[in-house]
Amino acid sequence: AYPNLTPRPPMGWNNWSYYMCDIDEKVILGNARALVKSGLAAKGYDTVTVDDCWMLKQRDARGNLVPDPARFPRGMAYVGRELHRMGLKFGIYEDVGKLTCEKYPGSFGHYQQDADLFAKWKVDYLKMDGCNLPTAPGRTKEQTYQDAYRAVSRALRKTGRDIVFSVSAPAYFQYDGDRVWHQVIRWSSQVGNLWREGRDIAVEKHSGARKWSSIKYNYAYNAKLASFQRPGRWNDPDFLLAGDSGLSTRQIQSQMALWAMMAAPLISSTDLTKISPAALRVLGNRDVIAVDQDPKGVQGRVVQQGPGYDVLSKPLQNGDRAVALFNSGDTPRTLSTTARTAGLPRAGSGRYELRDLVTRRTSRTDGKISVRVPAHATVLYRVRPVR
Ligand code: DGJ
Repeated sequence: AYPNLTPRPPMGWNNWSYYMCDIDEKVILGNARALVKSGLAAKGYDTVTVDDCWMLKQRDARGNLVPDPARFPRGMAYVGRELHRMGLKFGIYEDVGKLTCEKYPGSFGHYQQDADLFAKWKVDYLKMDGCNLPTAPGRTKEQTYQDAYRAVSRALRKTGRDIVFSVSAPAYFQYDGDRVWHQVIRWSSQVGNLWREGRDIAVEKHSGARKWSSIKYNYAYNAKLASFQRPGRWNDPDFLLAGDSGLSTRQIQSQMALWAMMAAPLISSTDLTKISPAALRVLGNRDVIAVDQDPKGVQGRVVQQGPGYDVLSKPLQNGDRAVALFNSGDTPRTLSTTARTAGLPRAGSGRYELRDLVTRRTSRTDGKISVRVPAHATVLYRVRPVR
């Protein structure tokens, strides 16, 4: 298997959902500086990834990828140096196919050459997309993707550099039936460190309503995949949208809480140079980040569900449980569960302490967990049996 380079879910920033192809050195390094200045980097958001559209439409005479000089006049090694100087890690995007999704040169036929180039640029993280990969003669689509991602994985290892490998394959099989798609997840978790699931999260130009339904969709999709997740091998339900337009504080808080419950990669994609204090508080909530990054490395599971609501529970290293009560419906309601349903052991004293990780208020209960939850909100507790 690929080396476990991510004992905790990866964290960082990627330009895609906010800027799409509208990127250059200024956008990337400006956001990197904001990541540091805002304090998010110190809280773990340490990888800055340049997504699609960073290169020229043609390789050079030696077959090397060429950064677009209009966007990146000093090249990508320079971007990497600047990120490293800021104490950040350098992530880059390519595609296993003949072209990227935006029709720039894909890595197909150049896996080792591109991996070597990325290693030379001191890349720390590679997001490998799955557009435009034609099915090979005599192979199925699934075999073709498997061959391609395995080859990239080997090429990365051959560079000798530790490069976190983000595999997009499962997203390209989501409509091919559960059996094949589950198979793709299995090998993705061997060849890489994290893998993209579900649909692309909505982008900035979409409406707030569409962003919210996209968050709910990727949440519901990813929540079912807990059994594929192992410590160090992460399901990736795509970017955090906190800071993007049209979403309420409750909605972005819900996304953050749910992603943390699922031990998902926390990859912000917004304009950090002008993010609101409220959105920054959501991304920067240390207690919520700690749930995501908990060393036990377990994806939380849905333990109770009904129309318009979910209750999730995630076991934590110190024996606590994180318990989330998500009101996905459009009206406020009281959601109730119990310590027992959440999988907590019987407390010696018969009592439990609940700490609300957003309001930071603590309360005690004899086991009943019941709370009024506004529409689209998630109450996230850290629950501890009292001895
Ligand atoms: C599809 C991916 O899922 C997105 O995150 C983004 O990388 C685009 N491709 C870029 O073309």
